[in-house]
Amino acid sequence: MSIESSLILHPAYRVGEVDPRIFGSFIEHLGRAVYHGIYEPDHPSADEEGFREDVIELVKKLGVPIIRYPGGNFVSGYRWEDGTGPKDKRPRRPELAWGTTETNEVGIDEFQSWCKKADSSVMMAVNLGTRGPEEARNLVEYCNFKGGTCYSDLRRANGFEEPFDIKVWCLGNEMDGPWQMGAKTAAEYGRIACETAKLMKWTDPSIELVVCGSSGSGMCGDWEAEVLKHTYEHVDYISLHSYYGNPSNNTPAFLASSLDMDGFIKTVCSIADYVKHVKRSKKTMYLSFDEWNVWFHSHGAPFEKWSVAPHQLEDVYNMEDALVVGTLLMTLLKHCDRVKMACLAQLVNVIAPIMTENTEDGGRAWAQTIFYPFMHCSAYGRGVVLDGRALSPTYDTDRVKSVPYLESCAPARGHEGARHLRREPLPRRGHGVHLRSLRLRADLVRRGDRAHHDDPRRPEGGQHRRAAGQRRPRRGRERFSERRRADGVLRQEELERRPRQARVIRSPASPI
Ligand code: AHR
Repeated sequence: MSIESSLILHPAYRVGEVDPRIFGSFIEHLGRAVYHGIYEPDHPSADEEGFREDVIELVKKLGVPIIRYPGGNFVSGYRWEDGTGPKDKRPRRPELAWGTTETNEVGIDEFQSWCKKADSSVMMAVNLGTRGPEEARNLVEYCNFKGGTCYSDLRRANGFEEPFDIKVWCLGNEMDGPWQMGAKTAAEYGRIACETAKLMKWTDPSIELVVCGSSGSGMCGDWEAEVLKHTYEHVDYISLHSYYGNPSNNTPAFLASSLDMDGFIKTVCSIADYVKHVKRSKKTMYLSFDEWNVWFHSHGAPFEKWSVAPHQLEDVYNMEDALVVGTLLMTLLKHCDRVKMACLAQLVNVIAPIMTENTEDGGRAWAQTIFYPFMHCSAYGRGVVLDGRALSPTYDTDRVKSVPYLESCAPARGHEGARHLRREPLPRRGHGVHLRSLRLRADLVRRGDRAHHDDPRRPEGGQHRRAAGQRRPRRGRERFSERRRADGVLRQEELERRPRQARVIRSPASPI
């Protein structure tokens, strides 16, 4: 199927500057994200702190400037003190959010060090489920105070002379969700979030705070309005969370997921601006989309209750998941004037672009399909996003109407983007890019195609291996086209020669 679309761009029409933290991610004490994921002291690549260097290398390739920690639902029952000080003194506890046992071998002492090794920084969440302002302000003191006070001296005694200097803090997690330990009404949460925010900022005025928005687009509305009424002048961002899936094998609807994200962002902006007006505030509330991804493949997978680091939420991603992740990334970029931070949830083993085997199972690490759109967007989705207009045919699904076949986004770094635009034949006004028969098409999606590009457990044995008798790839552009047809993702070397326009054609009528 071939579709023709137009993308109209002009360097003067800009959405805004991309905050690199839009390419954040998330590590929760859940499943094998921490233990056997980033931390595995008996792994051959483990460094002196027990961190897997093979995983750090993959994280670096993704270019993730900020990582949310330690949850997630986990944080709402977490005692941060458990994860500090001598490891042999740390308690093992039943973890109620996910039904496992938490050993506390890794806590903020270790995680902040891992983040530095991964060229990243910590977005720290505090427990506003079973705890409150007192424990939150103590944690800020532990992490960010230089010394000479109870908790800062405790950090120093634990071997960390210099403050961790954590800049971004989340006021709890998904406090609207009945599944959350210590869930609250919007008014209850708004009050405690406000009082916690005051104490945390009085302890360190340089920090930025994220207040909890809704746990999904379907839950948003009154919650945001009420919470912001209590907290507007005390916080810097409101959070959004959303996961997408294709449990009923409805590919056309699944490929339209980014329209839901787009609507969610617009709705939260409207509510925030309404509260701004009611309060006659000069301040604009920014958005932190700090949990988003495709999540459904692993729903209902069994695990042993109260075990340590079981296989949980280990979605195996395919090609259409990668397309959806690509369109979600473009949607975040197109809202870069308001969305300043976002976290792909999560980073390692748990609904993640990076997978590992436990040491005793072989100890390998690899990238899933969703790794590639993220890596490319993170590498090239920086600078200024142009406010383009895509003219594309649309399709309807039973759930969503008028889904454009073309999804596009045009980030331009410095003057490079404009230079690229000038190389093209310029119409008198604006700049038209005519896209004919785009080669990156969703009809490459085959249901049941579960290829991990790098999965060493694939029957054919891993990345880029050619089948016997397969034609030798040609050189240059042709070679790239072949690979792209095979993989459906833009590869690094080609992107370096291409304009920074990410684009995906949805093709719901594809033969499956
Ligand atoms: O990312 C997995 C879980 O999804 C998080 O713990 C929670 O915040 C959300 O519901």
